Amino acid sequence: MKDQNWLKERNARSMWHPMTAPADSLMNPPTIITEAEGVRIKDVDGHSVVDAVGGLWNVNLGFSCQPVKDAITTQLNRLPYYSTFRGTTNDAVIELSEMLSEFFAPDGATRAFYTSGGSDSVETALRLSRQYHKIRGEASRTKFLSLKKGYHGTHFGGASVNGNANFRTQYEPLLPGCHHIPAPYTYRNPFNESDPAKLAQLCLQALEDEIAFQGANTIAAFIMEPILGAGGVIPPHASFMPGVAAICRKNGILLIADEVITAFGRTGSWSGSRHWGVQPDFMCTAKAITNGYFPFGAVMIGAQVAETFEQDTSGAAAIGHGYTYSGHPVGAAAAIACMNETRRLKVNENAAIRGAELHTGLLSLQEKHEVIGDVRGGHGLMLALELVADRATKKPIDKGIIAKIQEVTYQSGAMVRVSGPNIIFSPPLILASADVTTILSALDEGLSCV
Ligand SMILES: Cc1ncc(COP(=O)(O)O)c(C=O)c1O
Repeated sequence: MKDQNWLKERNARSMWHPMTAPADSLMNPPTIITEAEGVRIKDVDGHSVVDAVGGLWNVNLGFSCQPVKDAITTQLNRLPYYSTFRGTTNDAVIELSEMLSEFFAPDGATRAFYTSGGSDSVETALRLSRQYHKIRGEASRTKFLSLKKGYHGTHFGGASVNGNANFRTQYEPLLPGCHHIPAPYTYRNPFNESDPAKLAQLCLQALEDEIAFQGANTIAAFIMEPILGAGGVIPPHASFMPGVAAICRKNGILLIADEVITAFGRTGSWSGSRHWGVQPDFMCTAKAITNGYFPFGAVMIGAQVAETFEQDTSGAAAIGHGYTYSGHPVGAAAAIACMNETRRLKVNENAAIRGAELHTGLLSLQEKHEVIGDVRGGHGLMLALELVADRATKKPIDKGIIAKIQEVTYQSGAMVRVSGPNIIFSPPLILASADVTTILSALDEGLSCV
């Protein structure tokens, strides 16, 4: 490793960072992380903290998962790469496909299409859903519906169904035929409705209204996160996703569950769809599938779609889509080891227990700190605080203040993520109770600087 001064001097000088302005990275140089162990990360100055971000919603098993590291090394030495395009495959990806098929069988999704990450998985599901309708002779179904506040990655398809202007405006025009309905976000919504069950019904009505307006026979799919994550962790009422699924089914619209952060236990259930008792037509996964140690993803495909593609002999079901790294053997080997560890450790159960502890702690902090407008959680280890300048008017907090809170929290022992007015928590699912205490006390310090 280069020495501390060398690294600090060149920090952000010759690279552009995602999701920030180049000038901002130069003015506020990013924290240089050099080591990690368990649920802790260490920076270039030797400061060690609990990582309440979990890498980026992906390091579910922590930073020291030896079986995954070993699987990657062994696979690199045996077969570092081979393509899965027509005509060839590899042993690891065959094995993984059988495992995923079994794991996602309760969700009704038993076929996998491999990608290099979450945005690729979303793109794949959007494209295959259009193709599904074409195979069945309904070529007019090309539009996509989604939720405001939703995050679906940054490819043009994903950005088009994205529900946050930050990821859209500078890249417009986006894909035509993408329409958004209000998210079941009780703290702020156009209906001024704070009751989660009533709000869910209003959002479902808005969905029905939009379908009637567009014409059901023009819509290919509806895409949603079972619990909205990057948009500020917005758990819907339990009636919402089943309601969406029923409306989609009634109108011949496919349901794409974007499970890039919810698959593999984060909500306390093995998938977000299972959490709500829904069987979608596609499930987009990535991130925790390899614990973040290798860029990889899988789109899981539901029975009706699988049957349509598999029974077609006309040529319409030929998949003109795929990535050089689809089914990468090293990613597949990492994913096999990850699945084994994920199930052996029952990380979903720990996510539910630790998530409840963190949620209770955040609610206590809300009693103490006026700046906390809303606390969202209650479904495993995905939680958020929405900070406000004034509770009565819900005026969002100033950017500089939230940055200061984050910095003091970091100096006090926990890395947290700031996104707009939200502080987001997505720690590894192997978190211990003592780590929850560390996160809460560091945050208490951070919030006390306001
Ligand atoms: C729900 C969801 N979908 C898609 C993506 C995009 O994934 P990636 O950044 O791996 O392309 C993310 C990333 O955070 C996500 O949270």
